[in-house]
Amino acid sequence: MSNINPSDRLKRLPPYLFAEFERQRAALEKEGRDIINLGIGDPDTPPPRLLIDRMTDVLDEPGIHQYSPSQGTEPFRAAVIRWIRKRYGVVLETRDVCLGIGSKELIAHAPLALTNPGDVVLVPEPGYPPYRSGAIFALCEPYVMPLEKSRGFLPDLDGIPADVARRAKILYVNYPNNPTGAVATREFYVKCVEFARRYGTIVISDEAYAELYYEDPPPSFLEAPGATEVGVAVHSMTKTFSMAGWRMAWVCGHAGVVEALRAFKSNCDSGQFMGFQRAVAAVLDGGAEDMKKIRDLYRRRRDTFLNGVRRLGWDVPTPRATFYVWFEVPSADKNSMAFAERILEKTGVILLPGVGFGASAEGYLRAALTVPEERLSEAVERLGRM
Ligand SMILES: Cc1ncc(COP(=O)(O)O)c(C=O)c1O
Repeated sequence: MSNINPSDRLKRLPPYLFAEFERQRAALEKEGRDIINLGIGDPDTPPPRLLIDRMTDVLDEPGIHQYSPSQGTEPFRAAVIRWIRKRYGVVLETRDVCLGIGSKELIAHAPLALTNPGDVVLVPEPGYPPYRSGAIFALCEPYVMPLEKSRGFLPDLDGIPADVARRAKILYVNYPNNPTGAVATREFYVKCVEFARRYGTIVISDEAYAELYYEDPPPSFLEAPGATEVGVAVHSMTKTFSMAGWRMAWVCGHAGVVEALRAFKSNCDSGQFMGFQRAVAAVLDGGAEDMKKIRDLYRRRRDTFLNGVRRLGWDVPTPRATFYVWFEVPSADKNSMAFAERILEKTGVILLPGVGFGASAEGYLRAALTVPEERLSEAVERLGRM
């Protein structure tokens, strides 16, 4: 079978820098070491009871097991519209919303639905990998926008050369931000709209962490005047309601962008289980208290972790949102991979090295607060012993 090779597109993906790190973790686990995994952002608590109850309620309903429309049922999209209006004061119509099987697929498919080969896609770094891989699969050129601490981890849109900007078909932005925990200002979103208008770029605002905040609720890109004329927001149930394996998200905003994604998706998938859409609609309408409980849980975890590592003398800023803590490597040598590997080997605690998120994130580490408080305290104790 030697004539079987991965496609050129697949070969163009950047090397996966966490691979060696994962190999080391697997080897330690095989030796029976107790690993505390603060690496992956995979919520560890169960989803709301309301979701599970609604889901089981509908299982015997005739017709519920049939194909869904790719863009989601009308009642599902109506619930999204109610939620967006209540949370952001933005009024959308049914055609402005399309369901996603998780936000990852919407983000990764967007360039295939909206660009042509050779277009530029603007991707933040550090950033969620599908921004770049989606662009590569669509034969676009990813252009990296570094997120620097001095700018509040917001990209410098004015610093993008005009010849690049003119070719830019998609601008990905992501706030609350993975991995930095930063939130965007309203002024920043206004700038995104201006940029999009000037260059004919589509803004895709990844708001997967919209509800995981510690201070005031962060704004959506959709709130910026004119936003729905130039772009869309992507929201996900995964992080807000601890439902990583369930897969439910939506894209909403500019009707033409939504329609392009729907048309593309109708050739690749067939929506999501209609009983699940029904249950998610119930949670969107009645899950505010569950959202608050989840935020309170992460706030307690965040404080446990921050108080602990600060006692060790680590200089760790307080994230304003998300369940990530993003901080500089606490040693003179800022090699994040070497530091994370040493920590893993000596303490069994996994922190992700910044360099794995892109070259401009070297010198940083990310901790995900997706383990119980006792495990976070234990992690800090082990780090202290080192
Ligand atoms: C920034 C960001 N966007 C989107 C996602 C994807 O979430 P899902 O596909 O589960 O909706 C993640 C997951 O880690 C993420 O970190």
